Amino acid sequence: MTQVQTAANSKRDIVHGLIIGFFILLISVLHYSTSTTRLQFHLIYMQSYFIPIILGAFWFGLRGGIITSVVISLIYLPHIMFQWGGFNLNNLIRFVQIGLFLALGYLTGLKAQGEREEKERYRQTADALQNSLKELQRKTDQILEMEHQLKTADRLAIIGELTANLAHEVRNPLGSIRGAVEIIRDSVPDEMKKLEFFDILLQETERLNSVVENYLNYAKRKSKMISRFDLREIVNDVVMMLKSKARKNGIQIKIDLSDRPLIIKGDSIHIWQILMNVLLNAIQAMPKGGTVMIEAWKADHTIHLKVRDQGTGIPKEALSRIFESFYTTKTNGTGLGLAIVKRIADENHWGIRLTSTEKKGTEFDLEIPEDVAGGRGIGN
Ligand SMILES: Nc1ncnc2c1ncn2[C@@H]1O[C@H](COP(=O)(O)OP(=O)(O)OP(=O)(O)O)[C@@H](O)[C@H]1O
Ligand SMILES: [Mg+2]
Repeated sequence: MTQVQTAANSKRDIVHGLIIGFFILLISVLHYSTSTTRLQFHLIYMQSYFIPIILGAFWFGLRGGIITSVVISLIYLPHIMFQWGGFNLNNLIRFVQIGLFLALGYLTGLKAQGEREEKERYRQTADALQNSLKELQRKTDQILEMEHQLKTADRLAIIGELTANLAHEVRNPLGSIRGAVEIIRDSVPDEMKKLEFFDILLQETERLNSVVENYLNYAKRKSKMISRFDLREIVNDVVMMLKSKARKNGIQIKIDLSDRPLIIKGDSIHIWQILMNVLLNAIQAMPKGGTVMIEAWKADHTIHLKVRDQGTGIPKEALSRIFESFYTTKTNGTGLGLAIVKRIADENHWGIRLTSTEKKGTEFDLEIPEDVAGGRGIGN
């Protein structure tokens, strides 16, 4: 309960206490000041004491019911003793009345207390529910944000790969053009050599070449973030990001990871990219739903990551092409996913293998020599 709520509650309790006190005082004054000959009035006053008792029980629970009924009884008792003549048969009803005050105070107090406690329990449950709802909302926002980042990262990776491929493809013919121009220039008569034409051709190819070289150098230099990380954490992260996408397609992603940490030294984004592309392929290969199994374990100083799907599989004749850039069988595919996977694996000297049976599914295996930061490895 907040401080503001506590202050408001104690203020309310004081007001309630004052109301009860006012009733007790008013009724008692009437009792004591009215002549005992006016029996009817006394009967009314006597019954009126029930009002503050009920209010006491209602507002302050068991404690309130008991205290109010005891206070009233103590105030009423001298009135019986001194104004009504004390212990005699005529006062029996008045003594019984005191008994009733106490019984009513106790019973209504008990009932009111039970209801208050129940109300408090409901309030606490409602609060807990409200908190869980807020937490859920926060998590949903987080996942949506991650999904958004994931889409952007994926697009950027693809654009990067695309331009790197383009640059690579442009560089080779450029070299040939330059070579050809040099040969032609050497073989033409001297007066023709003076023509600006050759110089322009050579200059422009040179300029194009340096643009491409610069770009490729830049792309290669993309700073790597080498660290030691646990493969299981990356697996869990990627799976969490793809879970809702998989669920929407009726696909269940199951993971079976080693109990022990699977420490890899390298750029964790590389594992992230590989797993993301392979899992996306697995999901896209299962239009009718199914299960994707991810396993990771360590054996003989090698960390293994296996992704198995129950998708359409890859025809034998296509298996040799799947790592080629731009090879795709999908209307919306770029055919760069597995090319990226292959480039990353080669760069790090990690082993990859893709085996597939048509109509049954595909299995992807990644083998990472333990504690390797590129340079050493098991090769392909
Ligand atoms: N798990 C798989 N099951 C069936 N076919 C697959 C699987 N993984 C890859 N393929 C085949 O290999 C092709 C190339 O895959 P790759 O990931 O390189 O490109 P893509 O998935 O078509 O497009 P992108 O990944 O750029 O969206 C796919 O088009 C598909 O035919
Ligand atoms: Mg793909």
